[in-house]
Amino acid sequence: MSITFEKSQNTFYLDGKGVTYALYINEVGYPCHMYFGAEITHDGLRHTRGVGRTSRTATPPGMDVGKYSYQNYLPEYAFFGTGDFREPAVVVENSTGDRICDLLYDSYEILPEKPAIVGMPSMRGGETLVIHLRDKISNIGADLYYTVYDDCSVIARRAVIRNYGDTACRLHRAYSFSMGLPGQDYNITTLHGGWACERNMETIPMHHGVVSVDSKRCSSSDTLSPFMGIFPSTTSEHLGDAYGVCLIYSSSFVLTAEGVVSGDTVITGGINDFNFTWKLEAGESLETPEALIAFSDEGIGGMSRAFHDAYRNHLINPRFVNQSRPIVINNWEATYMDFDTDKLKAIVDSVAGTGIDTFVLDDGWFRVRDDEFCSLGDWKVNGNKLVGGLKAIVEYVHSKEMRFGLWFEPEMVSEDSDLFREHPDYAIGMPTRERCYTRHQFVLDITREDVRDYIVNTVNSVIRDNNIDYVKWDCNRHVTDVYSVGREADRQAEFAHRYALGLYDLCERIVNANPNVFFEGCSSGGARFDGGILYYFPQIWTSDNSDAEDRTRIQYSTSLIYPLSSMSCHISTVPNHQNNRVTKMSTRADIAHLGATGYELDTTKLSAEEIENIGKQVEEYKQTEELILRGDLYRIDNPFESNFFTEMVVSKDKSEAILCAYRRQTNANPEIKRIRLSGLDKRKMYRIAERDITASGATLMNAGMVIHFPNEDYISVVYHIREI
Ligand code: GLA
Repeated sequence: MSITFEKSQNTFYLDGKGVTYALYINEVGYPCHMYFGAEITHDGLRHTRGVGRTSRTATPPGMDVGKYSYQNYLPEYAFFGTGDFREPAVVVENSTGDRICDLLYDSYEILPEKPAIVGMPSMRGGETLVIHLRDKISNIGADLYYTVYDDCSVIARRAVIRNYGDTACRLHRAYSFSMGLPGQDYNITTLHGGWACERNMETIPMHHGVVSVDSKRCSSSDTLSPFMGIFPSTTSEHLGDAYGVCLIYSSSFVLTAEGVVSGDTVITGGINDFNFTWKLEAGESLETPEALIAFSDEGIGGMSRAFHDAYRNHLINPRFVNQSRPIVINNWEATYMDFDTDKLKAIVDSVAGTGIDTFVLDDGWFRVRDDEFCSLGDWKVNGNKLVGGLKAIVEYVHSKEMRFGLWFEPEMVSEDSDLFREHPDYAIGMPTRERCYTRHQFVLDITREDVRDYIVNTVNSVIRDNNIDYVKWDCNRHVTDVYSVGREADRQAEFAHRYALGLYDLCERIVNANPNVFFEGCSSGGARFDGGILYYFPQIWTSDNSDAEDRTRIQYSTSLIYPLSSMSCHISTVPNHQNNRVTKMSTRADIAHLGATGYELDTTKLSAEEIENIGKQVEEYKQTEELILRGDLYRIDNPFESNFFTEMVVSKDKSEAILCAYRRQTNANPEIKRIRLSGLDKRKMYRIAERDITASGATLMNAGMVIHFPNEDYISVVYHIREI
């Protein structure tokens, strides 16, 4: 890993694990993109520059008219107001009312260690280049941060926008980065969805104009993920170049790919500029969220492995990332809100001896919460349901040598709550208008410090006073009626980003006050599954839909970006509560074992044999957990495109792997299912005990094998592959 400035070429080279990123300062003084891809040598990249159409394009002052065109250079941080008509990364309204901007290179620094973003999650560590840009007239500056790593093929990018002037300006757009890619022969893959059907893969061809994904919900949301895969049309899961960009951000975002007139593609994005204006007083700066850009020449799978390594090695809380995960029994689908201490104890008793080590008490434990209509925000135990308070059930669970987890929805308030009655202004919205409901609840205005203090104090004291070991942090609605009581009129459009900052402050203060508590993120399932949340919470509930068949797609697409260990995956009952589908327990377990596994069903209703079976599943999971935590994922069959879902997880030293193969539907005369294994060492010899196969990695990966499925729908098999 190294960052070098080649003075004679005016070029910066950033060399990370197997990748090089190169940019240069052009004759005008603009930082221009030259290259991002597989590692190259520092031979100068003049031969990669082209002179395209310059006729009737703008020429910067001092340059030869007709010889210089903005469109002949790919921007590292595009700006609006002078001659660049491509999607800008920044739009500034100066105090004079004009929006002219001209960000020129000023200086650079190379830092051995990346400074953390204050108040926002970001990748930890990594050598960092900072390029300082400045508009000499308006005194607006931008610092571009680039970080490379020696253990993952990603580059982290962000910008800090600074007002060096002595009057306020207004930012109408403040993105994190721009980056060029040569040509337009790309397919753009994005993830869209909704409740219980998160992150569906969609791929469209790149074209002239803008392709974009965004959220306007003050949440990264399940509607469109903060991710874009940019894959040359010849790239497949296993072969070819693959680029991916994702934002480490949990509020309204945007990512765009623009097919520009030069025939190239420009990627940019960050905080959504829709309904956004940020006032930057003299001397102030605005930090933008970090973008992570991955590259692999091993296809889409390689891009995912680059992201997984980046998330595990540099983003997810290092205290927990490699730690064996709690195996939970969660009472939500067992009881919903209809429970009392005895019912909960019965669930705990029923799983004794299975290896399940954590009981999670979900929604309904506080105030008078028997339905969705009330009590959010009043984090006081409901003594009628929980006789003896939380303490009694916590102590009971602890006496069984299990950990105790508790559900909170810290950002929310019910209209029917003491909190709302006392502080109606704590809820987001205008006092003069009725607010929209979602799930009969409002969102607290966590952009306000007093509101955050209330949340931090109440949540922290429940955790501390009751010896809670695990917290499930839910967030069941998105923000509407954006208005923050007490904030100046000309700062109301800062809300969405201030919501993110408020959320991160809450996470920071609650997670840091409880260093031994394990946190799981949740948002009506997986509606806020992003890097920002994963920085604080090592895993996220992937979806309220735990049907094995639907989960093959949800987990497959989530794994495009996020490591398996970040996906919370439960085994639930049948018929499934979301879609009524019936699948075998073994299938549900095999799919849920491709993540941080757990259970969510009424175990008091299971037979002794079924409970014994849970014990066996937990034991099996424990045997392969190391692979889930640290292994490399190789996706083989894509359930969005086929009747099958097949994945392998291979240890880093390639001595061990598991293969999970799933078939959706069978028929009277099913096809022979052949697969070629992936990710093994071709020189090593392996044994697949379940099938009595001994063969080399070369044979298994080239000649492949046939999968033996029982002749049933929704059926899975798991093979363990070990080096001999
Ligand atoms: C959301 C979560 C569920 C459960 C309920 C409780 O829907 O995704 O897992 O916690 O809230 O209300």
